[in-house]
Amino acid sequence: MNKAVYNNHLSLTPIIHDWVKQLLANPESLQQAVERFQSPLNIHCLTPFQENIIAYSNVFNELHVKHKVFFARKANKCIAFPQAAAQQGQGADTASYRELKQCLDSGIHPDNLVLTGAVKNENLLSLAVDHQVTIVLDNYDEWNLLKKICTEKQKKVTVNIRLGGFQFEGKTLATRFGFSLDEAVTFIQHLQNNKDLVEFTGLHFHLNGYSVEQRVAAIEQSVQLIDCLQALNIPTFSLDIGGGILMNYLENASEWEEFNKELKRAILGERPEITYQNDPLGIIKIENQLYGEPTVYPYYNTLNKEQLLKAILTSKSAVFQQPIYKLLNDRNIELRMEPGRSLLDQCGVTVAKVAFRRKDTNGNWLFGLEMNRTQLRSSSADFLLDPIHVPKEIKEENEATYGYLVGAYCLEQEFILKRKIAFKQFPQVGDLIVIPNTAGYMMHFFESEAHMFELANNVIYDNGNFVMDNTSD
Ligand SMILES: Cc1ncc(COP(=O)(O)O)c(C=O)c1O
Repeated sequence: MNKAVYNNHLSLTPIIHDWVKQLLANPESLQQAVERFQSPLNIHCLTPFQENIIAYSNVFNELHVKHKVFFARKANKCIAFPQAAAQQGQGADTASYRELKQCLDSGIHPDNLVLTGAVKNENLLSLAVDHQVTIVLDNYDEWNLLKKICTEKQKKVTVNIRLGGFQFEGKTLATRFGFSLDEAVTFIQHLQNNKDLVEFTGLHFHLNGYSVEQRVAAIEQSVQLIDCLQALNIPTFSLDIGGGILMNYLENASEWEEFNKELKRAILGERPEITYQNDPLGIIKIENQLYGEPTVYPYYNTLNKEQLLKAILTSKSAVFQQPIYKLLNDRNIELRMEPGRSLLDQCGVTVAKVAFRRKDTNGNWLFGLEMNRTQLRSSSADFLLDPIHVPKEIKEENEATYGYLVGAYCLEQEFILKRKIAFKQFPQVGDLIVIPNTAGYMMHFFESEAHMFELANNVIYDNGNFVMDNTSD
């Protein structure tokens, strides 16, 4: 491939924070870090995390909304993030015994923690009760277990109630979580009869997807429930709207549109493939007709993070004929949220070493990395942004090439990225590949130790220094 062709390839240019630019400007120090901590290495930075918290807080402050942001720790396991959130007066949402225990052990005050885990066994609930961490109850069995624990321990704990099954455009939003609004009234009244064991303080929901309108509807219906409870003399102090606030990975709308258009053309055989073996990334082809869209995260979007929060809060409630933030302020409700991915925007990169180059039977170049695909995996069918090649040696020759990144597991499907990648310079053994913006879900959510490979190390980058995060303590 010559340079002109390289310049024409379908790029998906990632947005890069200044700390990553600083990292890339010093390839020797990056090489040394990978030698020291092994490949792949997850490098994190707290600066963008702090900026992201401030951006959300600014929106709340501007609208005078009482608030608290709980970082959803499931999106990244490093303890440095919950600690940073707590230091900024916010908190962390925990989903398992180890997530909660580690936060407590690291000195985070229980008021800055909430337990939302999808499965809460006796150990986990007992830990929350012992430390007075607010528990979000999702079902009756959980409540029965909590009741038993509180009775045995003669201790009382604060609970919030998870809601589900909101109405939107004439239909129920399907979910496997929470109590319906009707069930919730009965259940919360029942909790009032157990005031020696639990104190009800708030409502909670987390919606699938990223819709502003659905969140507005869910808040509106939660406020109706709050009013109904108030009429029964049951006060509500907080409403937690969970996570699912979009973030934007890409610089350019036109690149994103072009990629999506060309993917469809490739699947229809109208152009050469742009994914390995023409992987349709979730689009279905039947008799030369395409159905559906790629099952990938919307990597480019204009309404995201704090603007998306502002759009929710300033939307006018059709039921109350008032903006959402006013409904909350009038009732003195603390709005809580649990962003995971969006708080981690720009907070981490994954770096891996090139181990081999070879061709497959079809003549495609494969670049083998010292990592496996579980170390860059989310529910999205592919991570659609360009990786950054950091060669050990810059070469002037015109040796741009296309190829695919493959990993260490023994499967034919072991591709780090399914998308065909263009390299300005032919990768050499020992070169580094930096995958930007991986802190949210990409690096930890599905990582596994198959073949007995060790999990990747996690370091925090601070002014040129790399310090281990004591995640595995
Ligand atoms: C209860 C709860 N809160 C918060 C989150 C975080 O969501 P996100 O990372 O999309 O912001 C999740 C994610 O599944 C969740 O289940």
